This record gives sequence, structure tokens and C-alpha cells, in this order.
Amino acid sequence: MKGVIFNLLERVVTDEFGADIWDDLIDEAGVSGAYSSLGNYADEDIEALVAAAAAKTGQTRAQVLHWFGVHAMPLLRELYPSLFDPHATSQDFVLSVNEMIHPEVRKLYPDAVCPFFHVRRNGDNAVSLQYESQRDMIDLAHGFLDGAAVVYGDKVAVEKPGGASDRLDASWTR
Ligand code: HEM
Repeated sequence: MKGVIFNLLERVVTDEFGADIWDDLIDEAGVSGAYSSLGNYADEDIEALVAAAAAKTGQTRAQVLHWFGVHAMPLLRELYPSLFDPHATSQDFVLSVNEMIHPEVRKLYPDAVCPFFHVRRNGDNAVSLQYESQRDMIDLAHGFLDGAAVVYGDKVAVEKPGGASDRLDASWTR
């Protein structure tokens, strides 16, 4: 996983709980804590940090990943405005993930391995996103969708049908 994701997790944890808690998580996870944005680090490290955060806050892994995604989105908006500015709504933004967002990410971070979403439209304001990844982080994607709605000031309802680990159904209301 790219260092930029670890950097974002550090900012989200520090903003909400303070720098001492981030240091605790580093210790409890048994990871180095030194991540440069362009570097690649073991997925086990992010998993260990998420597990440490879950243990500390009494939440599940899924809840921590979702929370991280929601709070990371406004930071991504600050860091990469050019990925957000062309879109008027979070629906447009989300629908650009395969063709625009992650391809741009791969230019910025050449060996990034991003997930792919098979998109099926269910009418004008609803889509099913089938998650394809070498990882198991659909709950992060769920958080990104909810966080994007906050950034754009619109409303989305996101569900994992039947608790699926590979599909999100999203519908937007205006
Ligand atoms: C709707 C918008 C987005 C969704 C649903 C999404 C989803 C995800 C998910 C779930 C991952 C975790 C890795 C995996 O599951 O395989 C990921 C990785 C990543 N995403 Fe996105 N993302 C979105 C937007 C963005 C934006 C705006 C950026 C801005 C730079 C970004 C940059 C990255 C990077 C750097 C990685 C790490 C790849 C790696 O470590 O190799 N994503 N994305």
C-alpha cells in the first residue's frame, strides 16, 4: 500500500484523537511509522494499524476503515483539487473513479495498485459498484463514497447488499 494512504491515516487519527494516540497505534501495531508518500509498504502494516485503532476505540475493522474513508476525502480534496473540480456532484466524481481518478493516481504514484469498480447503473441516481481488488477494503470504498457526498454537499445512501464483501449499492438524493 502506498505511503500516501498511511500519511492520510496519520492525519485523520491525529486530527481526531491527537498525535499521542497515533504514536500509541504505531507501538501497538509494531510498525515503523515512517512512511514517505511515494513509498510502498506492506498491506500488513495498514492492517495492523487499523486493528490497533479498532482495539483502542472498540470498533470493528469495517467501522474503522469506513471512518477513515469519510475523513480522508476532504483531505484528498485539499491535496488533489484537480480530481474534484471537474465534477459538480459526488455521483459524477464517484463515476470517474476508474477512468479518471485512479489512472491519475497511477501517474502520480507509478506502482500504485488501485481497485477497479464494475459499474452498473440502476436509473439516473443509483449505481451498483462491484469491487475488484487484490485487497479486502470495500469498507474504505464505502467511506470514500460517504465522504465524497460530504465534500460535494449532497446526499448518498450506500449499502452492502446482504453484507456483501464485494458490492456497494449507492443512491443519491438531491
Ligand atoms: C470514489 C472515489 C474513490 C474510491 C471509491 C476509491 C477506492 C479505493 C480503495 C478501496 C482503495 C484501497 C486499496 C484497495 O482496495 O485495493 C484505494 C486505494 C488508493 N486510492 Fe482510491 N478511491 C477513490 C478516490 C481516490 C482519490 C480521490 C485519490 C486521490 C489521490 C485516491 C488515491 C488512492 C491511492 C493512492 C490508493 C493506494 C493504492 C496503492 O497503495 O497501491 N483514491 N482507493
